[in-house]
Amino acid sequence: MLDSNQIAFFKTNGYLIVPSAMDSGLCQRVRDLMWQALPASSRLQADNPETYLGPFPEQDESSDERHLRAGFRWLNRFLGVSPEVISLIYSQSICAMAQQLLGGRLRQAVVDGQPMGSHGCAWPGGPTDPALGNDGARGVYCTLPYGNKGREADGVHTDGHPFQLGVVGLIDDCPEDGGAFKVWPGSHQRLFQTFALRYDQPRVPFYPHLPGFKGITHTEAYQAELQRVIADTEPVECHGKAGDIVFWHHRLAHAAGQNYSDHIRQAVLADFWTQDLDQLRAKPVGEDMWDDWSEAVQRAP
Ligand SMILES: [Fe+2]
Repeated sequence: MLDSNQIAFFKTNGYLIVPSAMDSGLCQRVRDLMWQALPASSRLQADNPETYLGPFPEQDESSDERHLRAGFRWLNRFLGVSPEVISLIYSQSICAMAQQLLGGRLRQAVVDGQPMGSHGCAWPGGPTDPALGNDGARGVYCTLPYGNKGREADGVHTDGHPFQLGVVGLIDDCPEDGGAFKVWPGSHQRLFQTFALRYDQPRVPFYPHLPGFKGITHTEAYQAELQRVIADTEPVECHGKAGDIVFWHHRLAHAAGQNYSDHIRQAVLADFWTQDLDQLRAKPVGEDMWDDWSEAVQRAP
């Protein structure tokens, strides 16, 4: 369980690393499942680290949103509803910690339910919507080593779909500069007020004959504050050991890490939300941003 210092750290910084929160045997089992899901003909071979270097060769790529292999990204969303991943990331102890933060009653994941990506992209060329038809975790997200690929600016963003608390769990050791999840501490408190909705976001619907505008819209205040966050805040890379997890607030600015190690970054991504989410998501932001969180979070300094 989380102690009061950890709860206060989460409230102030918008994230919290909890070491050794996942079972190491189960982490190994999920790593095995990732390899088993690759076609046997794949260039990538589990027992040969020299084959780990990205990007995926063209013949190994897959555009199926449920098991995507493209460039340096290897995302297995089928595994997000597997009994192994659900008992790993929605374990009794991790759910108990999430409950300590969120209060209320947590939504329950469904083993062998629908994986994220079952409906394809949110709009043509757009991202996959993690909230659409997702009965489990988002899935197992891997980043292949970048090798001599040039370093790019971090894709700093907040997530647009409705949830309240995110978690990223490392299922393998991830060294510094090895592609770990990156967070901008404190940004949740600064960005929260710039949204129109508490845990959701207005969207422009996509129409095939009106292709000019589509997708998530941001306020000018959000754009300006995000630029200030990028300019004045030192990001934190959540690297660590297999079994470490990081909780993060829905409005925290974050980015996928860039992997300049020799290892594949392997992590489980999942969302938590309470049964009140449908009422809370459109609630105005002009009130106390913590008033729907647990009493322990509300009381925390
Ligand atoms: Fe994101």
